Amino acid sequence: MRKLLFSLAFALALVWGAASAQTLTVAAGAVGMELELVRDAAQRFMDANPGVTVNVLDTPDLADDRLGLYLQFFEARSPEVDLYQIDVIWPGDLEEHFVDLFEFGAGDVVDQHFPAIVENNTVDGRLIGIPWFTDAGLLYYRTDLLEKYGFDGPPATWSELTEMAQVIQDGERAEGNTDFWGFVWQGNAYEGLTCDALEWIASNAGGRIIEPDGVITVYNPNAVEIIDLAASWVGTISPPGVTGFAEEDARLMFQAGNAAFQRNWPYAYSLGQGPDSDIAGLFDVSPLPAGDAEGGTPAATLGGWQLGVSRYSENPELAAELALFLTSYEEQKIRAIVGTFNPTIMALYEDPEVLEAVPFFGALYDVFINAVARPSTITAPDYAEVSRLFFRAVHDVLTGVEEADTALALLELDLEAFTGFPTGSP
Ligand code: GLC
Repeated sequence: MRKLLFSLAFALALVWGAASAQTLTVAAGAVGMELELVRDAAQRFMDANPGVTVNVLDTPDLADDRLGLYLQFFEARSPEVDLYQIDVIWPGDLEEHFVDLFEFGAGDVVDQHFPAIVENNTVDGRLIGIPWFTDAGLLYYRTDLLEKYGFDGPPATWSELTEMAQVIQDGERAEGNTDFWGFVWQGNAYEGLTCDALEWIASNAGGRIIEPDGVITVYNPNAVEIIDLAASWVGTISPPGVTGFAEEDARLMFQAGNAAFQRNWPYAYSLGQGPDSDIAGLFDVSPLPAGDAEGGTPAATLGGWQLGVSRYSENPELAAELALFLTSYEEQKIRAIVGTFNPTIMALYEDPEVLEAVPFFGALYDVFINAVARPSTITAPDYAEVSRLFFRAVHDVLTGVEEADTALALLELDLEAFTGFPTGSP
């Protein structure tokens, strides 16, 4: 009898377990240590929610490739992925595929996050994504090499960077490191180049490609001048292969000790100080340089990622719960300390443990809050195409196919035809 009762209880438990077992799949980034961090966080969610399984889907590194993958799921209205990590430039383009998170409890927490990001993620009053981490372009520089070559600090202007990079590169090569380069960055024809090139242009008082009010300003002398300068780096202070580089290519070269300067996002910091790095303790970060033009000032492109719940999810409530968990104070704090992922929750910039672990979050706070947005809101739902036109034009200059003056003149015509917006000066 007791045996029978036991088996009955066991069978009931199985049935109950099967009925209550729920599976969520989250499509997350996998650059650097991202995947590891998300898997750990997913495990914490599972530990707190017995019966829930969270699968973490590995996605391509390049934002453009990731978007391509997501679009395949969306076109199929696939319920396979519940939660998507989405780029700060995508809410407007992808809005129709996401639920309104205000309907799933996000209203209680959005006030903790930077208002500009919440606004960016809100389309027609619907919250498409909860902010997860923010990004801004930084200049990484080798403190030991600056000292060795007699420089007091990081370059304030791009011309200074060009000169310093050349001096250090010549010196290091003369000492036998033939693989050494002055400056590595993101020069492949993809979204990352849009970010780098926007920084060059904005820092040279050359505008923001298309201004927030819908005026195309990209064809102007300051923009032409700085794109020409960037093209001059290819094969001189930057490897010829830089026109095929994404974030990870730059990071690995800098981390192996083979570059004096690097443009990258904050995530490269923790990895550079990590056990696999040859330059731990030998580098620091600063704002990117300014252009030489009158009114030139340092500019960092605003990046960052959000979590959005798919409209095709079969379990949007639970998916939203997971999104709220992953973007919470405690979880953002872990990511900040372990992976130098910039929080979107403002209070974390005053958290003593975060500031102690990542001092530059405090020191460069202004860089993060003043970062320059790409023209994704004004061009939605066609930002991806606008960006493609832009990075292809810039890439043509970098690879010597076109002069900057011609490339930007043609780009202006293309953007005019594509968006129907007027042109003007920045
Ligand atoms: C980073 C940024 C993202 C940007 C991408 C470009 O992931 O956070 O906003 O689009 O880099 O490569």
